[in-house]
Amino acid sequence: MTKPAKLMVGNWKMHGDLSANAALVAELLAATAQRQCRAALCVPSVYLAQMQTLLSGSSIGLGAQDVSAHASGAYTGEVSAEMLRDFAVRYCIVGHSERRQYHAETDAVVASKAQRALAAGITPIVCVGESLQEREAGQTEAVVKRQLAAVIQANGHCISEIVVAYEPVWAIGTGLTASPQQAQQVHAVLRTQLQAATAHADRVAILYGGSMNAANAQDLLAQPDVDGGLIGGASLKAVDFLPMLRAAAR
Ligand code: 13P
Repeated sequence: MTKPAKLMVGNWKMHGDLSANAALVAELLAATAQRQCRAALCVPSVYLAQMQTLLSGSSIGLGAQDVSAHASGAYTGEVSAEMLRDFAVRYCIVGHSERRQYHAETDAVVASKAQRALAAGITPIVCVGESLQEREAGQTEAVVKRQLAAVIQANGHCISEIVVAYEPVWAIGTGLTASPQQAQQVHAVLRTQLQAATAHADRVAILYGGSMNAANAQDLLAQPDVDGGLIGGASLKAVDFLPMLRAAAR
């Protein structure tokens, strides 16, 4: 089976405004790089309507950064998977380390969020990753396997429909990127875990995230189990993001 094209996802986090978003998207769409790999932008939920319009008919998919673990009801401030679907959202990040850390999201909550997304026909981008302390204690494999296991257990045969993102917490926003070898090692562990759960593990894109930039993207993407990237800071400017999309298109 030929491998699917690399998937490059920008995670804007809490950045952007109406005019900056429009300018960035115009620059991205004017280039050809985004047509040669799979690309998506995960934007703050208040901008989903704007981005649905701007990306409509383009090759860039629309993504959200979080979803409620509940279907609907008295959950002030939450956004449901069905609501995301109203805006043609194709991807939704779940379990980003910033949500695990600052919003106390547990493995079980993350698994429920992935379930809600899948039920609404949205691809969850399930983030896993160890802290520096855990890496130094030799717990990297155990941590990422535990985080992914919760999602596998809750989602059964649908598991081949997810995207996984390995984001070592110590690499996020720090400029400290995992080396291609470090990334590949963990990606291979995740692939093996997926293989035990589904016959279609090769279909699951495993993205790397954490200080990925134009200078290191190519070497990371050259690893056999690195199927794309989840990019924070370097996705906020076309001048940074476009070379990464080009690297993914090779
Ligand atoms: P940076 O690319 O800014 O390190 O962020 C990575 C990330 O958290 C993407 O979800």
